[in-house]
Amino acid sequence: MALLEAKNLSISFGGLRAVDGFSIEVEKGELYGLIGPNGAGKTTVFNLLTGVYQADEGRIILDGKDITRLDPVHKNQNGIARTFQNIRLYSHLSVIDNVKVGLHNHFHYSTLAGLLRLPSYYKVEKEIEERARELLSVFNMENEADVMSSNLPYGKQRKLEIARALATDPKLLLLDEPAAGMNPNETAELMETIQFIREKFGMTILLIEHDMKLVSGICERLTVLNFGRMLAMGETKEVLKNPEVVKAYLGE
Ligand SMILES: Nc1ncnc2c1ncn2[C@@H]1O[C@H](COP(=O)(O)OP(=O)(O)OP(=O)(O)O)[C@@H](O)[C@H]1O
Ligand SMILES: [Mg+2]
Repeated sequence: MALLEAKNLSISFGGLRAVDGFSIEVEKGELYGLIGPNGAGKTTVFNLLTGVYQADEGRIILDGKDITRLDPVHKNQNGIARTFQNIRLYSHLSVIDNVKVGLHNHFHYSTLAGLLRLPSYYKVEKEIEERARELLSVFNMENEADVMSSNLPYGKQRKLEIARALATDPKLLLLDEPAAGMNPNETAELMETIQFIREKFGMTILLIEHDMKLVSGICERLTVLNFGRMLAMGETKEVLKNPEVVKAYLGE
């Protein structure tokens, strides 16, 4: 059974069918790419999977559970986390506090214990602190824990956003153009980080990306979207050779 199964998802905005009959099966532990020209509907697929938009039609099944109608908070609690095409960090918070925001969703102490600063509160806070530092060290960012996130270089802001998404302990990680705006060195490092996350956490990753070097370097399978519809899917090498795909990219 696939970890993520989306069947026939569609959504229209006014007269525009932004996503039309999108289906995908992503296996557990797989690194899967979603590509296509600008405006093809890739981010809209993520917005459907994460509950930002509700599909007009179709089903979303995660780990055997139908999560189609859940809102973003409950989709996240069921195991879907994402990063955004335009970085969305809490820029006024430190690096470690950004990670803690993600962790707080998954550690629970009663509000009363929090208000009264009871022992259970301190225990949970200590555990959150430790976990946050552990996650930062995975990204080689433990020395920047107390830096204001807006003061980080661009490539590290992108990594921090991934760390924060991982803090919610997802089953499926969605990355929307993680290499956008990165220089070649940052992109190469990012590729290693993504592969490392997959190996260390056994994470299943679906990523949108325009950087074909990254896509062909790390994705096992691809789906290509064009004008909201699926143009091709399959093994990365085969898909990138597909004449229809080449044509869509060259815009002939
Ligand atoms: N909330 C919305 N309201 C109206 N139209 C929308 C909305 N969201 C997306 N669209 C339209 O849906 C289409 C697909 O947009 P989407 O952002 O999914 O493309 P994309 O494949 O992610 O493109 P890019 O590579 O540029 O990020 C576009 O024509 C876009 O203008
Ligand atoms: Mg997009």
